[in-house]
Amino acid sequence: MDTRNPDETEQPGTAVNPDRRDFLNALAGAAFAVAAVGSIAVTVEYLSPNVLFEPPTNFRIGPPENFALDSVTYLPEQQVYIVREPAGFTVISAICTHLGCITQWSEDINMIACPCHGSRFRKNGSVEHGPAPSPLPHFLIGLTSDGNLTVDKLTIVPPTQVFKA
Ligand code: FES
Repeated sequence: MDTRNPDETEQPGTAVNPDRRDFLNALAGAAFAVAAVGSIAVTVEYLSPNVLFEPPTNFRIGPPENFALDSVTYLPEQQVYIVREPAGFTVISAICTHLGCITQWSEDINMIACPCHGSRFRKNGSVEHGPAPSPLPHFLIGLTSDGNLTVDKLTIVPPTQVFKA
């Protein structure tokens, strides 16, 4: 008596090659594994917080002695200029008021220049020539009890406001 499953009995001309069956099983397993890994990766990305890391808006810049008299110091991480003149300190944004390019202090011309469309700003942030439509904003600067200058980029101050330290 034949004990094989009737589905497994070989029909003439329809024999299944065991190598082919193993190959198809392995292929299906690999496809399932790829799909599983992909769905896990998407799930992990979905569940992880979408955090934007930006530099702090309130930060210390060290003691006043760190800045020479009549100097303009660019802080690249905070994108500000620390300007020290005989009258005191001012902190000016380095972001151009035209389309937001990062400006550069130029000692040669004694001005802040925008590399994108050629705007020029004076040391006090006022526009020398456009296309920038408005001056560079000034930020609040103060001094901590332990003698460090602090900048608050969330507080805009008038350009005439100078901090004596
Ligand atoms: S972005 Fe500065 S001049 Fe256009």
